[in-house]
Amino acid sequence: MGDGRLLEKARPVTQFGTPEVAALLADMRDTMAHLNGAGLAAPQIGVALRVVIFGVRANPRYPQAAEVPDTVLINPILEPLAADQDEDWEGCLSVPGMRGLVPRFRHLRYSGSDQHGLRFERIVEGFHARVVQHECDHLDGILYPMRIRDMRKFGFNESLFPGEDLPPED
Ligand code: NI
Repeated sequence: MGDGRLLEKARPVTQFGTPEVAALLADMRDTMAHLNGAGLAAPQIGVALRVVIFGVRANPRYPQAAEVPDTVLINPILEPLAADQDEDWEGCLSVPGMRGLVPRFRHLRYSGSDQHGLRFERIVEGFHARVVQHECDHLDGILYPMRIRDMRKFGFNESLFPGEDLPPED
Protein backbone atom coordinates (compact mmCIF):
# COMPACT_ATOMS: atom_id res chain seq x y z
CA MET A 1 0.00 0.00 0.00
CA GLY A 2 1.38 3.37 -1.00
CA ASP A 3 2.75 2.18 -4.36
CA GLY A 4 0.91 4.13 -7.07
CA ARG A 5 0.60 1.05 -9.28
CA LEU A 6 -1.97 -0.31 -6.84
CA LEU A 7 -4.20 2.69 -7.55
CA GLU A 8 -4.32 2.43 -11.33
CA LYS A 9 -6.98 0.91 -13.54
CA ALA A 10 -5.57 -2.20 -15.20
CA ARG A 11 -5.92 -2.91 -18.93
CA PRO A 12 -7.78 -5.87 -20.45
CA VAL A 13 -5.82 -8.83 -21.79
CA THR A 14 -6.25 -8.97 -25.58
CA GLN A 15 -4.20 -12.05 -26.47
CA PHE A 16 -4.49 -15.41 -24.76
CA GLY A 17 -2.26 -18.44 -24.75
CA THR A 18 0.84 -16.30 -25.17
CA PRO A 19 4.15 -16.88 -23.37
CA GLU A 20 3.60 -13.51 -21.66
CA VAL A 21 0.30 -14.59 -20.11
CA ALA A 22 1.79 -17.95 -19.10
CA ALA A 23 4.79 -16.24 -17.49
CA LEU A 24 2.56 -13.75 -15.66
CA LEU A 25 0.38 -16.55 -14.27
CA ALA A 26 3.42 -18.56 -13.19
CA ASP A 27 4.79 -15.51 -11.41
CA MET A 28 1.43 -14.85 -9.74
CA ARG A 29 1.05 -18.47 -8.60
CA ASP A 30 4.58 -18.48 -7.17
CA THR A 31 3.94 -15.22 -5.34
CA MET A 32 0.61 -16.35 -3.96
CA ALA A 33 2.03 -19.68 -2.81
CA HIS A 34 5.12 -18.08 -1.29
CA LEU A 35 3.00 -15.59 0.67
CA ASN A 36 0.40 -18.24 1.47
CA GLY A 37 -2.36 -16.08 0.01
CA ALA A 38 -6.00 -16.77 -0.89
CA GLY A 39 -5.79 -14.71 -4.07
CA LEU A 40 -3.67 -12.31 -6.04
CA ALA A 41 -4.25 -9.69 -8.73
CA ALA A 42 -1.65 -8.79 -11.37
CA PRO A 43 -1.32 -5.15 -10.18
CA GLN A 44 -0.06 -6.51 -6.84
CA ILE A 45 3.10 -7.63 -8.63
CA GLY A 46 3.28 -4.44 -10.69
CA VAL A 47 1.54 -5.65 -13.86
CA ALA A 48 -1.40 -3.49 -14.98
CA LEU A 49 -3.46 -6.25 -16.60
CA ARG A 50 -6.94 -7.50 -15.68
CA VAL A 51 -5.82 -10.88 -14.36
CA VAL A 52 -6.62 -12.38 -10.96
CA ILE A 53 -6.09 -15.79 -9.42
CA PHE A 54 -7.62 -17.20 -6.26
CA GLY A 55 -8.28 -20.45 -4.46
CA VAL A 56 -8.75 -21.55 -0.87
CA ARG A 57 -8.73 -25.04 0.52
CA ALA A 58 -11.15 -25.74 3.34
CA ASN A 59 -9.29 -25.63 6.63
CA PRO A 60 -10.92 -26.49 9.98
CA ARG A 61 -8.77 -23.80 11.61
CA TYR A 62 -10.76 -21.10 9.81
CA PRO A 63 -14.32 -22.30 9.32
CA GLN A 64 -15.35 -18.83 8.06
CA ALA A 65 -13.20 -19.41 4.96
CA ALA A 66 -15.11 -21.94 2.85
CA GLU A 67 -13.41 -23.81 0.01
CA VAL A 68 -12.95 -21.82 -3.20
CA PRO A 69 -11.71 -23.63 -6.34
CA ASP A 70 -8.33 -22.67 -7.80
CA THR A 71 -9.30 -20.18 -10.50
CA VAL A 72 -7.70 -18.02 -13.17
CA LEU A 73 -10.02 -15.14 -14.05
CA ILE A 74 -9.10 -12.72 -16.84
CA ASN A 75 -11.06 -9.62 -17.90
CA PRO A 76 -13.69 -10.28 -15.23
CA ILE A 77 -17.21 -8.92 -15.19
CA LEU A 78 -18.98 -8.85 -11.82
CA GLU A 79 -22.70 -8.57 -11.40
CA PRO A 80 -24.27 -8.51 -7.93
CA LEU A 81 -27.47 -10.59 -7.92
CA ALA A 82 -29.05 -8.79 -4.97
CA ALA A 83 -28.50 -5.58 -3.07
CA ASP A 84 -27.74 -7.26 0.25
CA GLN A 85 -24.23 -7.00 1.60
CA ASP A 86 -22.36 -8.72 4.41
CA GLU A 87 -19.57 -7.24 6.46
CA ASP A 88 -16.62 -9.47 7.23
CA TRP A 89 -12.92 -9.22 7.99
CA GLU A 90 -10.46 -9.02 5.11
CA GLY A 91 -6.73 -8.92 4.79
CA CYS A 92 -4.57 -8.19 1.77
CA LEU A 93 -1.06 -9.20 0.75
CA SER A 94 -0.51 -5.54 -0.21
CA VAL A 95 -1.52 -4.39 3.29
CA PRO A 96 0.27 -7.08 5.29
CA GLY A 97 -0.44 -7.80 8.94
CA MET A 98 -3.73 -5.93 9.07
CA ARG A 99 -7.45 -6.66 8.93
CA GLY A 100 -10.49 -4.52 8.26
CA LEU A 101 -14.26 -5.05 8.30
CA VAL A 102 -15.46 -4.68 4.70
CA PRO A 103 -18.96 -4.75 3.17
CA ARG A 104 -19.37 -6.95 0.07
CA PHE A 105 -22.29 -8.18 -2.00
CA ARG A 106 -23.43 -11.55 -0.76
CA HIS A 107 -24.71 -12.94 -4.07
CA LEU A 108 -22.68 -12.53 -7.21
CA ARG A 109 -22.47 -13.65 -10.80
CA TYR A 110 -19.03 -13.37 -12.33
CA SER A 111 -17.71 -14.17 -15.75
CA GLY A 112 -14.48 -13.83 -17.66
CA SER A 113 -11.88 -15.89 -19.44
CA ASP A 114 -9.51 -18.56 -18.27
CA GLN A 115 -5.83 -18.63 -19.29
CA HIS A 116 -6.75 -20.07 -22.72
CA GLY A 117 -9.32 -17.38 -23.47
CA LEU A 118 -12.24 -19.72 -22.77
CA ARG A 119 -15.22 -17.83 -21.32
CA PHE A 120 -16.87 -19.09 -18.16
CA GLU A 121 -19.43 -17.90 -15.66
CA ARG A 122 -20.21 -18.74 -12.04
CA ILE A 123 -22.89 -17.83 -9.55
CA VAL A 124 -21.47 -17.71 -6.04
CA GLU A 125 -22.17 -16.37 -2.58
CA GLY A 126 -20.58 -15.66 0.74
CA PHE A 127 -16.83 -16.11 1.10
CA HIS A 128 -16.28 -17.04 -2.56
CA ALA A 129 -18.14 -13.89 -3.66
CA ARG A 130 -16.08 -11.84 -1.19
CA VAL A 131 -12.74 -13.11 -2.50
CA VAL A 132 -13.70 -12.36 -6.11
CA GLN A 133 -14.84 -8.82 -5.23
CA HIS A 134 -11.61 -8.20 -3.29
CA GLU A 135 -9.40 -9.40 -6.16
CA CYS A 136 -11.31 -7.58 -8.88
CA ASP A 137 -11.20 -4.35 -6.87
CA HIS A 138 -7.41 -4.50 -7.33
CA LEU A 139 -7.98 -4.18 -11.10
CA ASP A 140 -9.71 -0.84 -10.55
CA GLY A 141 -7.14 0.53 -8.12
CA ILE A 142 -9.26 -0.11 -5.03
CA LEU A 143 -7.73 -1.50 -1.84
CA TYR A 144 -10.02 -2.89 0.84
CA PRO A 145 -9.25 -0.11 3.40
CA MET A 146 -10.97 2.28 0.94
CA ARG A 147 -14.22 0.35 1.51
CA ILE A 148 -14.15 0.20 5.31
CA ARG A 149 -17.15 2.07 6.73
CA ASP A 150 -16.01 2.28 10.33
CA MET A 151 -12.28 2.94 10.62
CA ARG A 152 -12.39 1.67 14.19
CA LYS A 153 -12.72 -1.74 12.52
CA PHE A 154 -9.28 -1.55 10.92
CA GLY A 155 -6.06 -2.51 12.62
CA PHE A 156 -3.17 -4.82 13.19
CA ASN A 157 -3.89 -8.53 13.36
CA GLU A 158 -2.21 -8.95 16.73
CA SER A 159 -4.26 -6.11 18.22
CA LEU A 160 -7.62 -7.11 16.73
CA PHE A 161 -7.22 -10.86 17.09
CA PRO A 162 -4.52 -11.56 19.70
CA GLY A 163 -3.28 -15.12 19.55
CA GLU A 164 -5.74 -16.17 16.82
CA ASP A 165 -5.01 -18.16 13.71
CA LEU A 166 -6.31 -16.00 10.85
CA PRO A 167 -7.33 -17.05 7.33
CA PRO A 168 -4.96 -16.17 4.47
CA GLU A 169 -4.76 -12.65 3.02
CA ASP A 170 -5.65 -11.91 -0.60
NI1 NI B 1 -5.64 -7.84 -1.86
